[in-house]
Amino acid sequence: MKPQSLLLALTSATLAVSKTADYGYTFNPVVVSGGGYITGIIGHSTEKDLLYTRTDIGGSYRWNASTGKWVPLTDFISAADENLLGTESIALDPNDPDVLYLAQGRYLSSGDGAFFVSKDRGESFEVYDAPFAMGANELGRNNGERLAVNPFKAGEVWMGTRMAGLMRSLDGTRTWENVTSFPDAAVNGVGIYWVIFDTRTEGTVYVGVGVPGGIYVTRDSGVSWEQVPGQPLEWDEAVLVFPDETQPQSSGPQPMKGVLASNGALYVTYADAPGPYGVTYGGVYVYNTSSSDWANITPGKGNTYPAPFANQTFPAGGFCGLSVDAKDPETLVVVSLDRDPGPALDSVYLSHDGGRSWKDVSQLSTPPESGGYWGHPIEDAAFKDGTAVPWLSFNWGPQWGGYGAPSPVRGLTKFGWWMTAVLIDPSDSDHLLYGTGATIWATDSLSRADKNKSPEWYIQAEGIEESVALAMASPNGGPSHLLTGLGDINGYRYGDLDVPQPMFGLPVFSNLNALDWAGQKPTTIIRAGPCGHNYTDGCGLAAHSSDGGDTWTKFATCIPGVEVGTSNPGTIAIDASGKHIVWTSAMTTYWGTLQAVTPSANESGPYATTDLGKTWISPTGLNVQTPNISADRVQPKTFYSFTDGNWYLSKNGGVSYTSLKGKEVGLPAHPGAIPIASFDRAGEIWLALGDLGIYHTRNFGRKWTKLTGRGVTARHLTIGAGARRSSTPALFILGTAASHGSLSKDGVYRSDDNGKTWARVNDEDHQYGGVGLIQGDPRVYGRVYLGTGGRGIVYADIKKH
Ligand SMILES: *[C@@H]1O[C@H](CO)[C@@H](O)[C@H](O)[C@H]1NC(C)=O
Ligand SMILES: *[C@@H]1O[C@H](CO)[C@@H](O)[C@H](O)[C@H]1NC(C)=O
Ligand SMILES: *[C@@H]1O[C@H](CO)[C@@H](O)[C@H](O)[C@H]1NC(C)=O
Ligand SMILES: *[C@@H]1O[C@H](CO)[C@@H](O)[C@H](O)[C@H]1NC(C)=O
Ligand SMILES: *[C@@H]1O[C@H](CO)[C@@H](O)[C@H](O)[C@H]1NC(C)=O
Ligand SMILES: *[C@@H]1O[C@H](CO)[C@@H](O)[C@H](O)[C@H]1NC(C)=O
Ligand SMILES: *[C@@H]1O[C@H](CO)[C@@H](O)[C@H](O)[C@H]1NC(C)=O
Repeated sequence: MKPQSLLLALTSATLAVSKTADYGYTFNPVVVSGGGYITGIIGHSTEKDLLYTRTDIGGSYRWNASTGKWVPLTDFISAADENLLGTESIALDPNDPDVLYLAQGRYLSSGDGAFFVSKDRGESFEVYDAPFAMGANELGRNNGERLAVNPFKAGEVWMGTRMAGLMRSLDGTRTWENVTSFPDAAVNGVGIYWVIFDTRTEGTVYVGVGVPGGIYVTRDSGVSWEQVPGQPLEWDEAVLVFPDETQPQSSGPQPMKGVLASNGALYVTYADAPGPYGVTYGGVYVYNTSSSDWANITPGKGNTYPAPFANQTFPAGGFCGLSVDAKDPETLVVVSLDRDPGPALDSVYLSHDGGRSWKDVSQLSTPPESGGYWGHPIEDAAFKDGTAVPWLSFNWGPQWGGYGAPSPVRGLTKFGWWMTAVLIDPSDSDHLLYGTGATIWATDSLSRADKNKSPEWYIQAEGIEESVALAMASPNGGPSHLLTGLGDINGYRYGDLDVPQPMFGLPVFSNLNALDWAGQKPTTIIRAGPCGHNYTDGCGLAAHSSDGGDTWTKFATCIPGVEVGTSNPGTIAIDASGKHIVWTSAMTTYWGTLQAVTPSANESGPYATTDLGKTWISPTGLNVQTPNISADRVQPKTFYSFTDGNWYLSKNGGVSYTSLKGKEVGLPAHPGAIPIASFDRAGEIWLALGDLGIYHTRNFGRKWTKLTGRGVTARHLTIGAGARRSSTPALFILGTAASHGSLSKDGVYRSDDNGKTWARVNDEDHQYGGVGLIQGDPRVYGRVYLGTGGRGIVYADIKKH
């Protein structure tokens, strides 16, 4: 070989290992299937299988019938636009199935709202700022639809807003004008619930405001309005179960949802509060738009089969969910709302005679041994292909502290709660879908109810992921690649990321805030989260498992300052041997909504235990409840903390710490950060110090080196398996990593050369309203788990190359 080509070969070899390659990424959900409240299910009136769902905090989805999955449409929302990740309302153009309007914005207080307008069913959008605020995660989010397209004028869109009255756009949501003639702007935070164009008569529009008597009609495209006569303004005494103890919360029924059927019947569900929670009374009425007659068609004692469950002696709840069969105006379903805490819980009612008589589909679907708690047999909690959705069987037993109504009957999963989104598929009358606070149930055999049989049910939520990620861990051994902690629905462990898993067992947490695994015993794991139940046999806020999360032992006692009712129990860490645990009540902050508490007044540092919490030791040398603590994954008894600018090291299981001033060990002035320990090398640690970049040590923190150059900012850091033949793990950061000195976009980045060069992981189409936490996988090169604030957890893998 000639010298010159040898030189060339060497140069290219050096380049190959010294630069982080940008292979591109694929993004897939770590499957829960649902995981949050489904606020709307909308079907196009003429186009077969064209269905959309909206959620309160996780954007909107379109159904793909050939893959059997919902396709997320709003993942391009950036972290800066996080508030736009809730859908207040969806409108479809009855004359053009390709057109889709989404009204986006979670909170009124955020002020920013936007319209996403698509001409290709949500594949791409034009985005226009809205001149008024939206409240997709506010009270009344169960009602609607607030947004509607004029069937006689393409591009004319009306919106019943919460705070700004009735608004109209003549240019497809770009600009808006106030329909000032509308008599009842009801600036009460919930405002107008629905807008319905009469598809038979141009210029006729019905609008429902969330107040008694709040239904109005115009017959001249909004020039003049009439309050619809004869509306129910007072409560029907028959529905007031305990009027002395529980008065209705409004002077009369408030219209929640309305549907104008093809025969001119306007069906309306009613309640005494906006919902989805806190409703006590309601009803269902129908208005004949030609004769102006009203009829009370509330399902009740005399007109339902089977008769109501006898023990139901509590306020009967209201009504919200409503769908009318597109093929038969006399066939409809309505759903009760907030009938808990009675045994039966809410019912889905089906009528084929315009509401004169009803079948209680929930009751017909419930096995006889249920004791009156409506539920599906657990086996029914499965996708259509039979794949089980086992976490939906949660909630056996009174220990459960929140999230949905109880169904303490073993063998059943709750029929549902907050079932306010319901749809009889416009192209298939046998296909009914209903959303719950957690998922979507569906049947293809609704008509079995006509024969007093249970329809066959399945879960139709594949692709919908709307949980909030609070904690993640990826052990370097054992059957689980990922352990998750979520808002509202506890936590899960995953061997197969693509298949729903059972929920972690008792103690069940209403949130799971902290997780850790023992570096040399990866199936020994600990978790902490709030729990509403006051256990007499231990602390319900932290638990230990030595079998990878199959079974759990509660800690014997909680640390000082943590008790039933503590909303976030803080941070826990377990040493490499699995024998030493530290727990601190100062929480780790990821989301703006979870502010870190001021470290406890107790001048103890992280409490340490070797007996699963029978005794807690207050350490010496570190006297602040810092969240910035972690364990070495290789050397037992070793804990680290970077707190208040000092580096702390414990080699005796957190009983005592030695501290060194940051300056003495080469660290810059910085308040503190979580030490990220190597999964295979004792004493190797990284720190993400925001604008100051990434610092690294190989000797337990006695000497630190800055790894990154200008332009690298790292809010969070995680490590995963290194590239083939690489001696360093892959680093991932949340932040910016400018290459060539240019400013880069905020996002998730990977480095294969310990921080010298970086490649972007997530692209503009995969921003999820912001990624709040990241977790590398010690066993899969390139993989990073992205924890979002409303789109669950996503695993990003390097594209096949
Ligand atoms: C469904 O998804 C498949 C695979 O991504 C795609 O080819 C097809 O066009 C989609 N169908 C619809 C109706 O969106
Ligand atoms: C729209 O008009 C109504 C009625 O005049 C008024 O109450 C409301 O405040 C107006 N909205 C805006 C945004 O100006
Ligand atoms: C509405 O009332 C008219 C006149 O009484 C009647 O002919 C029609 O059948 C009614 N429509 C419905 C849907 O009941
Ligand atoms: C309903 O009432 C029956 C008869 O009084 C009783 O045996 C049963 O336990 C009650 N069920 C519930 C769920 O309260
Ligand atoms: C929990 O139970 C203990 C013992 O019964 C009691 O002293 C304490 O007040 C209870 N705490 C709460 C928050 O219910
Ligand atoms: C502070 O910590 C000590 C040592 O663990 C404990 O005994 C004491 O109860 C704690 N005090 C408070 C107010 O939490
Ligand atoms: C912990 O780390 C965070 C993130 O860097 C920092 O904001 C906070 O001040 C630190 N707290 C302590 C007590 O070290």
